[in-house]
Parts: sequence; structure tokens; C-alpha cells
Amino acid sequence: MARILTIGIATLDIINTVDHYPAEDAEVRALSQRVSRGGNAANTACVLSQLGHQVDLAAVMISEPDGQRIESELHAAGVGTQHCVRPETGKMPTSYVTLSQSSGSRTIVHMRDCPELDFADFWQIDLSHYDWLHFEGRNITELARMLAFCQETIPEIPVSLEIEKPRDNIESLFKWPDWLLFSRHYAQSRGFEEAVGLFESLPTDIKAICGWGEIGSYAFVGNQTDFQAAIPVAQPVDTLGAGDTFNAGVIHSQLAGRSIDDTLQFANRLAAAKCQQVGFDNLINKL
Ligand code: FRU
Repeated sequence: MARILTIGIATLDIINTVDHYPAEDAEVRALSQRVSRGGNAANTACVLSQLGHQVDLAAVMISEPDGQRIESELHAAGVGTQHCVRPETGKMPTSYVTLSQSSGSRTIVHMRDCPELDFADFWQIDLSHYDWLHFEGRNITELARMLAFCQETIPEIPVSLEIEKPRDNIESLFKWPDWLLFSRHYAQSRGFEEAVGLFESLPTDIKAICGWGEIGSYAFVGNQTDFQAAIPVAQPVDTLGAGDTFNAGVIHSQLAGRSIDDTLQFANRLAAAKCQQVGFDNLINKL
């Protein structure tokens, strides 16, 4: 069991399952609806907690009913929220998700009117308490200060950074973390049709992993590239948070001292299990 802090956002996800993704201007009925806590750092935290770790989330948790609902779901999942900041006004970020039953795709409209966690909130946390810190790649200026602070004050604690979406200047953060966890979406947005192209653009001393969905995942460590094929999923039912789950698998495996091949295989397996079930509950029982 390790102590892990994830830093990023928590959201309210309103998830409508539809038979297939609708055409623009269509009117369709949802087959079902569920409401759940979400957010990349929150999702990764919940999966790490299932994997037996003691996990805390640092995020903005507004004191309003949705914030309270999200927080109680996090507590039920075993995730500590004592490092969350709680503004009195505002609204929790909300994702309106259309989940296609025929393909498992998840299309997200995200509404955000909420302050980001900033360095002034972060530096007060006793980071020496943790064995791993995992950051969501957002709010670049403040994140740069947090990552630099970690390197200066706790260089011995491993740090991973998720780079899921292209954001202005996100590449300026690459020099600080021990691990860069890329998404296919980010790689493709940079014009790379293969993870290897992305890896070739990085300094050779960087450790990077890139999930490539139904194909598998790639690693770049010690200037060497590895690939492990995905576990085939015949009929994905819910891909929302599959990348966040994959990242939890990477962190868990590295904390357990596993090889790079084993790390990729385990993270692939965990992500495949996620795609085959609705939500995140009892994920590890399906492995
Ligand atoms: C899935 C997710 C959702 C959330 C959205 C935020 O990766 O974290 O839970 O609503 O992405 O971008």
C-alpha cells in the first residue's frame, strides 16, 4: 500500500446512454441516465484506492450541493478530500456525456465556471507524507510552479503528469515530472500518427507512456520504446475514464516495482476491464 496524492479536478458527470450517437439537430431519447462524480484526477484516485492505496485528491470542491455529492462519492470510494479547497460560491464543473451503446464512445460537453487549484493552495500540503504525486495537465502557469516546487523540495518522491489534452504551453512542463503519461488524443493533436513519433520528439532521458486505445500502449524509457497490445474488448459498454484508469494502472505497477512490459500489460488490462463495465465500481474484481 502506498500513499498517493492526485492533483487536478473533480466534476459532476451527467451521463446519458443512447442507442447510437445522434446526428446534429436530432432529438433522441436516452435509454438511461446516471449521475456520477468524475474528473481525471478524481477517477484515477478512485481506481488507485481500489488497488489498495491510500489516496487523497487535491482539487477545488465548491461548497454547493453538487460539490457535496461529489465529495461523498469520493469518500465512499475511499479517497481523502482534506486537501481540497472549498470556495463558498460558484458551481462544480459539469460534464454532459453522451454514451453510445452501439460503440461505447463517450462524447463530452464540459461546462466549467470554477476556479482552478493554484500554487497558494498546493504548497501548504505536507507532500513528504506521500509516495507518489500524480498531476493532471491543466492550468499550466500554476502547475509549472507546483512541479518546480516538488523538484526543489521533495525530489525523491516520484511525480507523474498526465498530458491528455493539447493546451497552450503544456510542453513547457515536460522537464519536471519523472513520468509523462500521454494520451493518443494529445499525440494526434500534435500531428503524430504513432506514439513513436511523439517519443522521438522528447528528450531521450524522459520516461513516457502513451495509451493508444484499442491498439495497446507504448512506453519510452531509457531511450527504448516498448509496446504491449491491448486486451481486445468485443463490445465496449463505457469508455468514460478509460484513460484515467489506464494511468492508475501505470502508477500502481510502478509503485509495485514492475517491469515496463508488465506495467503496460497491467494498465491495458485495467483499461479493458473499465471499458467492459459501467462506471468504476469493483473494477479490480474483473481483472
Ligand atoms: C473522463 C473525465 C470525466 C470528466 C471529463 C473531464 O476522463 O474525467 O469524468 O467529466 O473527463 O474532462
